[in-house]
Amino acid sequence: HAEGHVTDYAFSFEGPFGAYDQFQLQRGLQVYTEVCSACHGLQYVPLRTLHDEGGVGLPEDQVRAYAAQYEVFDPELDDYRPATPTDHFPANTSVGAPDLSLMAKGRAGFHGPYGTGLSQLFNGMGGAEYIASLLTGYTGEEKVEAGVTLYENTAFPGGWIGMAPPLYGEDVDFEDGAPNDIAAEAQDVAAFLMWTAEPKMMARKQAGFTAVIFLILLTSLLYLTNKRIWKPVK
Ligand code: HEM
Repeated sequence: HAEGHVTDYAFSFEGPFGAYDQFQLQRGLQVYTEVCSACHGLQYVPLRTLHDEGGVGLPEDQVRAYAAQYEVFDPELDDYRPATPTDHFPANTSVGAPDLSLMAKGRAGFHGPYGTGLSQLFNGMGGAEYIASLLTGYTGEEKVEAGVTLYENTAFPGGWIGMAPPLYGEDVDFEDGAPNDIAAEAQDVAAFLMWTAEPKMMARKQAGFTAVIFLILLTSLLYLTNKRIWKPVK
């Protein structure tokens, strides 16, 4: 059977000039909120970062309204209160599902360094591809082992996962009228989870590009300097 099969989706943030698609991240946030957050938490992600440029980019009032739907425990009040942008997304350990904050960097879709070892250099690590493939990889087969129901999945290593299929298509309605078939929902939430795992990707790529330009300039200046210094000797 085909366990560990990962589809190479084309995400907007791939490549040296790739950038997050703000509206895709907003749709992914909606899928996370309406479906995944029932079982999974995002405890390392500060709610205020939903406002950050280069990411989800929600206006501040929407971030406040979004935060307020979560309850957090406040040790100072010794009670629960609605979350504010200074809080993190809540953790969720109710059914033992892993936290998703860093999942897109914790899993790889493409493997190396086998063969030439170049697969990940060209394809990336594939964390988002893995998540999207996982969500669309259910075969519909189930089995019960030691009282636990397992679901056959073509992306999950080992082929049987303890997570029931969370998406079927048309699970959420997107305000922007974007398609909500299962493949679209899966890619949107995978892109959102890439952002939670690497919120500064845009800044990193920008800095990398600036550094390369600078090094090219420096190299040519040093080359010319070297020529000039040694001219009388050669
Ligand atoms: C595991 C994503 C919804 C329960 C996972 C994993 C991912 C994930 C990436 C880790 C797989 C791995 O270890 O490689 C999502 C997303 C969801 C979603 C994106 C929403 C679209 C749910 C829901 C439930 C759930 C609604 C509960 C009803 C679990 C459990 C595991 C898990 C129990 C551990 C499974 C195992 O290790 O066998 N999920 N999930 N998930 N999820 Fe979800």
